[in-house]
Amino acid sequence: MYRIMYLSRAVVRFSDDELEELLLKARQNNSKRNVTGLLILKGRSFLQCLEGNKEDVLEIFEKIKNDDRHDSLIEVIEEEDSKRYFPNWYMGYKTINELDEVRTKKLIDFSESKNINAFSNDDISEIFKEFIEVK
Ligand SMILES: Cc1cc2nc3c(=O)[nH]c(=O)nc-3n(C[C@H](O)[C@H](O)[C@H](O)COP(=O)(O)O)c2cc1C
Repeated sequence: MYRIMYLSRAVVRFSDDELEELLLKARQNNSKRNVTGLLILKGRSFLQCLEGNKEDVLEIFEKIKNDDRHDSLIEVIEEEDSKRYFPNWYMGYKTINELDEVRTKKLIDFSESKNINAFSNDDISEIFKEFIEVK
């Protein structure tokens, strides 16, 4: 199982309809390839986790990287793992309001930071792990 997490910035703030359309498309494509993950939005900052077979994840990530609705894309984590964080979500979606205070602060610091290296992979993983569904 292969995982990518990245941070990016929407060129223009997404309306609710635009976001819904994006998620619909993402879920359609991801379900065909059994790619799962989570998208977090805070203002114009996106943080996304994509996981699945390496080939499938990279193919989808390539499309995402070329999407001109966002820019300043920074890949923060690329790793192999034995299991998925989000096995049940073809693309879950959360706003920052659903994060607890500590995670929120971390994510805001992170998304506003010019120095991406100030954040460890563990910091970023922690933000996502908050949402892992316990079955
Ligand atoms: C922040 C963000 C996250 C996205 N996430 C996904 C995703 O998880 N899966 C996906 O297929 N497309 C995602 N997209 C859309 C892709 O960039 C692209 O528009 C889409 O995959 C095109 O699909 P199509 O080739 O079937 O038309 C995302 C776009 C943005 C801006």
